[in-house]
Amino acid sequence: MQIRKISPSVSYIGVNDRSTTRFESMWPLPFGVSYNSYLVAGEEKTAIIDGVEVAYAVDQIAHIKSLLGNRVPDYLVINHMEPDHSGAIRILRCEWPELTIVGNAQTLGMVKGFYGEEGNMQVVKDGDVLDLGGRSLRFRTTPMVHWPETMMTFLEEESILFSGDAFGCFGALNGGVTDREMDTDRYFPEMERYYSNIVGKYGAFVQKAFAKLQGIKPAAICSTHGPVWIDRIAETMNMYDRLSRYEPLDNGVTIVYGSMYGNTQHLVEALAEGLVEGGVRDISIYNAAKSELSDMITASFRHRGLVVASPTYSENVFPPVQSFLKAIEIRGLKNRVTAAMGSFTWVTKAGPAIQSQLEAMGLAPIEPALLMKQGITSGLADSAKELGHKMAAQLMAKI
Ligand code: FEO
Repeated sequence: MQIRKISPSVSYIGVNDRSTTRFESMWPLPFGVSYNSYLVAGEEKTAIIDGVEVAYAVDQIAHIKSLLGNRVPDYLVINHMEPDHSGAIRILRCEWPELTIVGNAQTLGMVKGFYGEEGNMQVVKDGDVLDLGGRSLRFRTTPMVHWPETMMTFLEEESILFSGDAFGCFGALNGGVTDREMDTDRYFPEMERYYSNIVGKYGAFVQKAFAKLQGIKPAAICSTHGPVWIDRIAETMNMYDRLSRYEPLDNGVTIVYGSMYGNTQHLVEALAEGLVEGGVRDISIYNAAKSELSDMITASFRHRGLVVASPTYSENVFPPVQSFLKAIEIRGLKNRVTAAMGSFTWVTKAGPAIQSQLEAMGLAPIEPALLMKQGITSGLADSAKELGHKMAAQLMAKI
């Protein structure tokens, strides 16, 4: 049982999920994930902030009872309706029918739509305050971080921000809850992966949320996933700020390729050598047919350079590579130095298709796609190396 006093009036009452293998049925969870929930106790009223996934409802209820005994919690504040945070609503309502659900108009519509719940509801608008007696919860709507109904809740007297998915990360909590209780270095790569995979499409909205939060200097950030941030707030906010502006975190290169029989891979190896000769040191190469989409997306958000290479497959881009291209298109990836390479046996389709797709995304390759018919030649290997040199020169110029 993981209950922690975070401040005089706030306790952590969340849970760890170490069983689910894929978040949203897609994204691997090698280190698990936490569904964070909090109890705020005012002098008169109590509020649960954020819920948990349905499988953990009993645990959350036990946590609440261990703090409140037989007292019924007054409010359930829902910052975000995705079922990893709202799945337990129906069970909480069975346990405490008097519980008032607090959310904005969109949230409460979703509560009814997902769970058929009506009962006690309190609609709040941007800027509204809920008085718990000596403790005030101010609500700020932050749409599309990560759903349209999303909002954040600010505990004014203690400057604690309940930020929903924002500033969250994958990774269950291993004994501690706040960043003061654990080495949180391991959570930052999982923050990059969480942001790029889950929130990545909504960078402009994350920036709007930042603008709205200007002036708020939180003493603690309580997100829905991962550690409570106290000591590393600046790093966490900086990471979200950079990623949501599509600013690369380094001058490395992500190479995503497909290769049925190793021919396209020969081009990739030659290009990678050229990058190294040009001074690039951080190169992440993914065979799209066996690598996790999650990792390829994360790398493409991290590195400034991006290379996409594919054989022609049924007169199209090799499907696993196409899937990656779709993923970065959906997320609106920007500000990258890119290159395209394509191979074919009798009709050249993949290279030009990658090039035109990257161009349509505003990620135009630095040169027309390098094309290879059938197997590699020494001349083609030299061309791939040369492309690596040119790319390296553009990347090095950014240092
Ligand atoms: Fe953690 Fe968008 O749900």
